[in-house]
This record gives sequence, structure tokens and C-alpha cells, in this order.
Amino acid sequence: MTAKLLDGKRIAAEIRDEVAEQVRQFVQAGGPTPCLVAVLVGEDPASQVYVRNKSRACEKSGIEGRTMRLPASTTQDELVDVVRGLNQDDSVHGILVQLPLPADGNGGSGFDERSILDTVDPRKDVDAFSPVNVGLLMQGRPRFLPCTPHGIVQMLHREKISVAGKHVVVIGRSDIVGKPMAMMLAQRDGSCGRDVANATVTIAHSRTANLAQLCRGADVLIAAVGVPEMISGDMVGDGAVVIDVGINRVEDGQGGYKLVGDVNFEQARGKASAITPVPGGVGPLTIAMLLHNTLLAAKGIHA
Ligand code: GUN
Repeated sequence: MTAKLLDGKRIAAEIRDEVAEQVRQFVQAGGPTPCLVAVLVGEDPASQVYVRNKSRACEKSGIEGRTMRLPASTTQDELVDVVRGLNQDDSVHGILVQLPLPADGNGGSGFDERSILDTVDPRKDVDAFSPVNVGLLMQGRPRFLPCTPHGIVQMLHREKISVAGKHVVVIGRSDIVGKPMAMMLAQRDGSCGRDVANATVTIAHSRTANLAQLCRGADVLIAAVGVPEMISGDMVGDGAVVIDVGINRVEDGQGGYKLVGDVNFEQARGKASAITPVPGGVGPLTIAMLLHNTLLAAKGIHA
């Protein structure tokens, strides 16, 4: 079997067009221009690229995308004050603190990331990282859906891939992807806004015994571990759907770098019925869902 390629780039473009149209209607009806502020601390090159891409995507959708750049020497208290200021600024609807925060900030002791994220007003928390928004998601009544898992739900929905009653194995238990992904797919119909629900979900991680055997039994395999090509072809069951969340930069053997996922793509595509490429799979969907959340935030605050 050769797998169907799940084209995240095309689906993300479709969603961004839909958001742009909804923004246009919202503003035409008298709403303010939605505004997202990304807070970028330090000079991490990958984070700079991400933030630039987010801001460009905002502008293309009619959303104002501001970036607040702060030096790596910023202290914990200063960053908390910046976030509090954005919470109180009525012209700002979405706040995103780009992660990871630099390890060398705060006089060498690093940031307490959790307490920074806790400071973001839950009504402006377009990443859905705050405890209030995580709790609402757990209870099946989300305010914002976290962007990467929501992008995957949108992809499954638009590709008409049902997970109901199926065995989904999520590899990775991060707060950003693994945990919320598992929760969303196990929800009853509709609670996460889409018909992608009612799955039987297993969360696997670095301490899981017999990982290969577990993965082979999955109808849908979602890899979010950040280990280049860790999922080999023999870990993929015949006809499985493979969603690769990994974006890993590795040497290309010619003095440069290339991006690879957590799945060995060439091996897995011979076994799977459908698979996401890296790049061009899950990645573009994350930004599309961030735009969606920013519009929701603007509508929520100005309803
Ligand atoms: N760093 C990597 N992914 C993300 C994300 O989804 N949101 C934020 N704020 N930072 C990130």
C-alpha cells in the first residue's frame, strides 16, 4: 500500500481563507480589528522564524500581528509586568508568549515558564495553555482549543477520516500536544467543535513497554515526541493513518540541514493508508488555528 499524502499546507490555506473572510465580516459589522501580540524573549533563531511567520500570517488574514521583542536579560518580574500590561490593553485580543523562554534569562536562573503562562488572561490565551483553558477542555466545554491538536482534528475532519471507536495511539505526553490531543479525540461528539471524537486513546511515552507492538495495533498513530525518525516502518500497522507532529532539524550529510519528522517517512508510507509529510503536514495547521483563536478572542471580548 502506498499512503495518501495528507496535505497540511493546502488545508491550512483553506482555513486561513475562511478566517480572513470571517475577520472581514466581523470588522464590517463594527467589530475591532483582531490583534495578536507575540512576546519574544531573547534571540533564539527558530523562535524568531516562528514569530515572524505568525505575524505574517496574521496580516494576510486581516488580523493585526504585533511582536514585542525583549532582551534575553529580561527578568521574571519584568516579563510578568509585560504580560499584565497586555492583559489590560483593550486593543489586544490574543497574547502568545513564544516558548521556549531562554534558559539564561533572569540573571542566569532561567524563567519560571509556568507562572508566566499562568499570568496570561484566559480570555486572551490563544495558545490555550492557561490552567483555566486546560480545565475547560478537560471538561468538554473548551473556550479555545490548543492550536496543534486542533489543526490535527481539522485535518482529520476535512479528510473525512473518522476516529470513532478506533484505537488511536498518541506517542508523547506534552502539555502542548500529547495530553490535549488525547483528550480531544476521546471526547463525545461535538464537544471539541467537530465530529472527530469518540476514539479509544492510548498515550504512550518514553517509559511505555512494548512500544512497537502497541503502535502496530493502532488505527491512527500520532507521533509527538521530538525524536528524529523514531517511528520506523515496522511500528506502523497495515492501513494505519499516521500523523507526524515532529519537526526536527538534522544534518543532511552535505554540510547543511533538513527537516524530518518523528516518523521514518519513506518506511511508513509503504504501510500506512494516509500520512502527513514533514514539512507541509501538521506544521502549517498550527498557525491557521492560532488565527482562528485570535478571531474567537476578539469576538469573545467584544460580544
Ligand atoms: N513553541 C513551540 N510551539 C509553540 C506554540 O504552539 N505556542 C507557543 N507560544 N510557543 C511555542
